[in-house]
Amino acid sequence: KYIKEDELSQECKSLLSTLSTESGWVSSATTLYNYQGFWHHARQLQGVLSCQKHFQAQDTDILLVTTPKSGTTWLKAILFSLLNRTRFQPTQDDHPLLSNNPHTLEPFLEPSLYLKDENPDLSSFASPRLFSTHLPYISLPKSVQDSKCKLVYLCRNPKDIFISFWAYTNKFRLQDVGTNSLEEVFKKFCEGVSLYGPFWDHMLGYWHESLKNPENVYFLTYEEMKEQPDLHLRKLADFLGCPFSPKEVKENMVDAILKICSFDNMSNLKVNKEGKLPSGINNSAFFRKGEVGDWKNYLTTEMVERLDKICEEKLDGSGLKF
Ligand code: A3P
Repeated sequence: KYIKEDELSQECKSLLSTLSTESGWVSSATTLYNYQGFWHHARQLQGVLSCQKHFQAQDTDILLVTTPKSGTTWLKAILFSLLNRTRFQPTQDDHPLLSNNPHTLEPFLEPSLYLKDENPDLSSFASPRLFSTHLPYISLPKSVQDSKCKLVYLCRNPKDIFISFWAYTNKFRLQDVGTNSLEEVFKKFCEGVSLYGPFWDHMLGYWHESLKNPENVYFLTYEEMKEQPDLHLRKLADFLGCPFSPKEVKENMVDAILKICSFDNMSNLKVNKEGKLPSGINNSAFFRKGEVGDWKNYLTTEMVERLDKICEEKLDGSGLKF
């Protein structure tokens, strides 16, 4: 059971009344609130506050952090298969990923666990615990920032994030409202107004942290993962302290993990075609094209120039480029 808008805590309601607002993407009735420099829905903010207050990180925890629509579902599947590869061989017929959506196997903190319960009981999670979040670095619970837990950060070319997000939000719009205007939401995206946006600040927070603290923060892009999946999977295994043994390499463990997590495999599973998350979202909503560069089919030359210029300006001097 998720908290409804009228069940928000008094603390959250009082905070909301002090925050600046913008209209959201799904409809003009959905409001986004700016908290600690980033945009959230009211219900989500309740999850953020509870998570900040109650989540106690352990040094062995692994946190997947992503900008929404960057390939979270894919990386969740990869991390789950990687960390559980002894318990569940990626080639076995009853691998949990074949009958569960990755979001069920590796739950989100603030938009799921801490939205259902202010202080959920996490004692059933075996070590190393694997969670995920979209929280910007500045908003991570203090216990995460103070611990030695490992953060895997995934982002994506903002032009593809934008198109993926636009397509995703269209699925939640009522039929009579029709498709979200690409131009309207593009304007918002460029102003940084999107869920967990501005995207540039989200990325830069983790980029800087990964440079300062490479032992604990692994920075990865969807494009890098698409281009050299085996290299990055092996690097992820090293980073997480569970490198592939020569025997595993010889037995093609890396390929087997990539295969079970591939877009073709996952998007064609019954659970992902017909299943739903407890929140009511269809699992199929997380699988669209799974390609790099689909923005070329949607954005005008002017839009591309505008977004490229924003990226250049905002990321200037950081070393991060798209
Ligand atoms: P597109 O909309 O560009 O197709 P998230 O999981 O963060 O919500 O991101 C969703 C994006 O990741 C969608 O991108 C989706 O198709 C893509 N995706 C989902 N599963 C994938 C997989 N196994 N491999 C590659 N991309 C995947």
